[in-house]
Amino acid sequence: MSDQQQNPDESEEFVPQWGSAAPKGGRAVLNRILREGNKVPLFLGQTFVQSLRDVGYNNTTSAICEHVDNSIQAGATEIRVYFNQAGPKGAHEVDVAILDNGPGMPPHVLQVAMSFGGSMYYENRSGIGRFGVGMKTAALAMGPVLEVYSWQERNTIYSMTLDVEEISSSRTNLIELPEPRLMDALPSQAATIFTKPMAYPKEEAQDLLAFNEDDLSERISKSGTLIFIPNCDRLSYKTARTLAEHATREMSRIYRRQLGDGLRLFINNRRIEAFDPTFWMQTARHVQIEGLQDTRSKLINSWPEIHIPVEENSKQVGTASVRLYMLPIESWYDLPRKTLANDLQLFSDQLVSFMRNGREVHIGVVPELSGRRHADAVWLRLQVDFAGDLDEAFGVAMNKQGVRPKKYALDIIREHIKDDVTRVREKTKEFRAAHTRTGQKSHLTEAEQVAQEADALQAKPLPSYAATTEEEQRALDQNLRTLALTLKRHDESDDDAFERIKKSRYLTMFKHDPYWPFYHVDFQLGKVILTVNTAHPFFTQLYEPLSRVAVQEDESDGDGGTPRGASAEGSDLLTGLQMLLLSLARTQSQMLSSEGSAEYRQLFENLRKEWSDSLKTQLQMTRR
Ligand SMILES: Nc1ncnc2c1ncn2[C@@H]1O[C@H](COP(=O)(O)OP(=O)(O)OP(=O)(O)O)[C@@H](O)[C@H]1O
Ligand SMILES: [Mg+2]
Repeated sequence: MSDQQQNPDESEEFVPQWGSAAPKGGRAVLNRILREGNKVPLFLGQTFVQSLRDVGYNNTTSAICEHVDNSIQAGATEIRVYFNQAGPKGAHEVDVAILDNGPGMPPHVLQVAMSFGGSMYYENRSGIGRFGVGMKTAALAMGPVLEVYSWQERNTIYSMTLDVEEISSSRTNLIELPEPRLMDALPSQAATIFTKPMAYPKEEAQDLLAFNEDDLSERISKSGTLIFIPNCDRLSYKTARTLAEHATREMSRIYRRQLGDGLRLFINNRRIEAFDPTFWMQTARHVQIEGLQDTRSKLINSWPEIHIPVEENSKQVGTASVRLYMLPIESWYDLPRKTLANDLQLFSDQLVSFMRNGREVHIGVVPELSGRRHADAVWLRLQVDFAGDLDEAFGVAMNKQGVRPKKYALDIIREHIKDDVTRVREKTKEFRAAHTRTGQKSHLTEAEQVAQEADALQAKPLPSYAATTEEEQRALDQNLRTLALTLKRHDESDDDAFERIKKSRYLTMFKHDPYWPFYHVDFQLGKVILTVNTAHPFFTQLYEPLSRVAVQEDESDGDGGTPRGASAEGSDLLTGLQMLLLSLARTQSQMLSSEGSAEYRQLFENLRKEWSDSLKTQLQMTRR
């Protein structure tokens, strides 16, 4: 090695193949090292700081969360996030600022905090920070310059700047951080941000920190920290509006506990409220949604202490706690789709929420825990709480966004929760199945109506139960009332059910029984009663999906979405299927009331069982 260094001719082979955009300062240092044998630093600052810009935050919100994390950990009770959009439309610039009222940093701490790896909490697993990089990498992920201002008394502000351009062009081998600068006021650019409304949201919605600069020195807290990233070149959205909307949606959920405990968090001068995807917190936003009767999920079960080894096969264990909720499906199912989708975010795959030291690090579908993504899963929620000692088990990375749980950890949790999760999914399935039948309030289905009208044209009539005397009529009504009670839909009154049953010759019922054939026929008091089994694949794979298509299309009619043609097609198919079954029911009813019916009864019974089994076998084959 030393031979090579001493022989300039040989070192020619090791010419660096750097790209043209590579930092000049870094090139100079590297060449000096190669040619002159200079000492090699552990980190080549000029290049490394540029590479760190690509650490990979999912989006601007998760980068800003690093700063909010720091403010929270420092003990701030008010945090203001700003997306300051300025300049002409189409060519505007956005600055990002985060201001807190925490204790601030003394100058030497500020200096340490600016260095990569510099931290006051390094490897401390009980709080949010532990890696010593968040503030720097998150800022550089958004823009090339980070300015930090921190004060522990008014008008004594220390500031430091990290400027990627400047660092990259430095020609020294070892880049050192300068001393913090002492200032008696915040820079005017920052003062403007705090005193003028942002481009978004509407001015009336903004609660400014101060109305003018004189006011500002009073309003700004005695101690605090300001993170300022001017002229960001790498934001996930272009406008202040989308940036603020995304940050609001995410942070209201990510920091729900802190918000619930009173943290005042503003985004572009608008205070944000907690959003709880488990719908348990009664201080969360959903409680105020109009028309919401139930505001709280049902806690199905909780496992406060699930012991998980910190690494696979390790003897050292940490404790996770898990809670399983079922949303109030009975009272929410019929809410307008807009409320369900936008206000309650029900279809946003927010099934499993991972909370690390009280701060959400991930939310999503985790098939190992929640089961596969499916309409039956929409109504369940899992919340997994853990502390930093389980970071390895849950796969928490340096940027604290997302988890990548190890299989062994998921296996342990699943063992505890799986039966209850299945129960919730089953309950949802049953509810949804039952709800399909009650789609049309106290009305006959089209199929029931058509079947009845077509009776006049059928070759063989059904036996008539018409009463001839008043007394007979009373007795019949009495019997029909009793029958109505058993056929009552959940949204019908006794009288509604009686009226419906009295006027219809065809009735469809639903029943959920995994051990039962897919249909059943009964003929009582002159009524053809068809029962469809919602547990059979005939229902889950054909009837229910078809009725969903029909219902969806019906709904979209009102919105002016789908053209009427498509809607008619969906419900026509469903009606056709229902008539297939009603005609079967009619035929059986008719044959059973004719001569020789005793033989038929056994035959129909066998046919029903055999047909159901063979249909089940076939349908199950088509399932992936
Ligand atoms: N708003 C703030 N108020 C007070 N101190 C802060 C603030 N922001 C950062 N610091 C200090 O700066 C240090 C470095 O922050 P940084 O986010 O880079 O690392 P960390 O929070 O320690 O770890 P992590 O990389 O896990 O976030 C922190 O340890 C903290 O001492
Ligand atoms: Mg941090």
